[in-house]
Amino acid sequence: MNDSLLDREVALRDVTERFGQGHLFAWWDRLGREERTSLLEQIQSVDFQQVRSLTDTLVQQAVPQEPAELKPAPILRVPRDDREREDARKAAQRGESLLAAGRVVPLVVAGGQGTRLGFHGPKGAFPIGPISGKSLFAFFAEKILATQTRYGPTVPWYVMTSPENDAETRRFFREQAFFGLAEDQVFFFVQGTLPAVDREGRILLASPGRLSLSPDGHGGTLPALVRSGALEHMEQRGITEISYFQVDNVLVRVLDPVFIGVHAGAGAEMSSKVLRKACPEEKVGVIGVRNGKLAVIEYSDLSRQDMVATGPDGRLKYWAGSIAMHMLQVAFIRRLHESGIRLSFHRADKRVPHIDAAGNLVCPEQPNGIKFESFIFDALEFAANPVTLEVIRSEEFSPVKNATGVNSPDSARRDLMELHASWLEEAGARVPRNPDGSLAVKIEISPRAALDLRDVRERFRPPPAVTGDLLLEEAPSR
Ligand code: UD1
Repeated sequence: MNDSLLDREVALRDVTERFGQGHLFAWWDRLGREERTSLLEQIQSVDFQQVRSLTDTLVQQAVPQEPAELKPAPILRVPRDDREREDARKAAQRGESLLAAGRVVPLVVAGGQGTRLGFHGPKGAFPIGPISGKSLFAFFAEKILATQTRYGPTVPWYVMTSPENDAETRRFFREQAFFGLAEDQVFFFVQGTLPAVDREGRILLASPGRLSLSPDGHGGTLPALVRSGALEHMEQRGITEISYFQVDNVLVRVLDPVFIGVHAGAGAEMSSKVLRKACPEEKVGVIGVRNGKLAVIEYSDLSRQDMVATGPDGRLKYWAGSIAMHMLQVAFIRRLHESGIRLSFHRADKRVPHIDAAGNLVCPEQPNGIKFESFIFDALEFAANPVTLEVIRSEEFSPVKNATGVNSPDSARRDLMELHASWLEEAGARVPRNPDGSLAVKIEISPRAALDLRDVRERFRPPPAVTGDLLLEEAPSR
């Protein structure tokens, strides 16, 4: 062993001992040289002071939070009258001019582990196209292409990955030729990780030479933007707003002029989209005013009483479910960073495979480990003038989260086909339907062919005859 490896080992053994994590070296004697180097690197990357304070506050003391005072949030509703429609039109104009000036960029968070879906590979690579089999990433990329065709400037796309899926994600983009985008318009940046601990706060080992590290939550977007230089990159290019979305929502409007416009018009540092919850138990966070500040209350943190509470109209009091779409000012992210504001961490009890004291791999049936994650929506409480915009579910939200049932590939494909069918019907086409109203054929429209109803109306005249399954990949040339 050369001296530097030995020096590092001695120094890091000392640090781990001081923080009660000396067991990380338990299998040192059995490791080969490469494994030792890699273990030392992992240990070096851990902020043990942070792990200790997270363990102290979230694991060992874990005092139940004081019940917060919750109130419904003010929400800009879907337009219902002429005045509201006129306001939305003006907002769209403002958003469109920001898009034409190249001020707004899309950012997708794709660092999650996608455990519930059971898909091996980055979630964005999941084949969701009902006919084309195209991936989620391909849909987003084509929406970006369509947006730049409509407004002019090339749109840089920021993609957050995690150390676990970064290489695979980049490989997928390369294999798919960046879905038609230019390679240099896609900016990957990698989020941080934190170790998972047991109930005593001891860091779990995934194998004798590997710590159990997991992504630090989508709140990790903010430090990762700064650390990777992506934020500076945006500032240098005169980009002022980020359109943030999750990798799981096939219907997402990646750059929505109305949302951009209401956010910018209000001078908001951060804004969010919501929709009416389908039922009290729907697993979406709700937007409310908590202790005087706008906040997303995660579904797991909402009391049963608040979940089922109704307002004077007899409908759900906390009806506004977050679809995890936000507009964020670039200057807001810079301000948070410079003023030292960091998002706090939440505790998640998970089943974490690990090796036990005898060195055997244990795959627990019950949660045994604790992971720490921060959530981007916790930035809302620091944001000036935040706007919450109501949207229509069938037009904007159908996530792929579970392998079957609700929020699954089946439901997302069905919702995508229904939306595309509705565009054709509104443009005057007759779409074959079953007696119960469901589609009798498959329909898929590539965002390159039409980004929305407006494109269908303008580009497909007359609308195509739908006699069987229909995949529109390109608009007819005129
Ligand atoms: C999330 C929201 C919920 C919202 C719902 C809408 C949280 C905690 N909850 O629920 O309020 O109503 O979406 O669909 O987010 N990700 C990372 N890095 C991480 C963790 C997650 O990039 O470290 C990304 C994932 O790739 C995914 C997104 O964040 O794109 C959502 O993460 P997930 O944990 O699946 O959240 P949900 O429970 O689905």
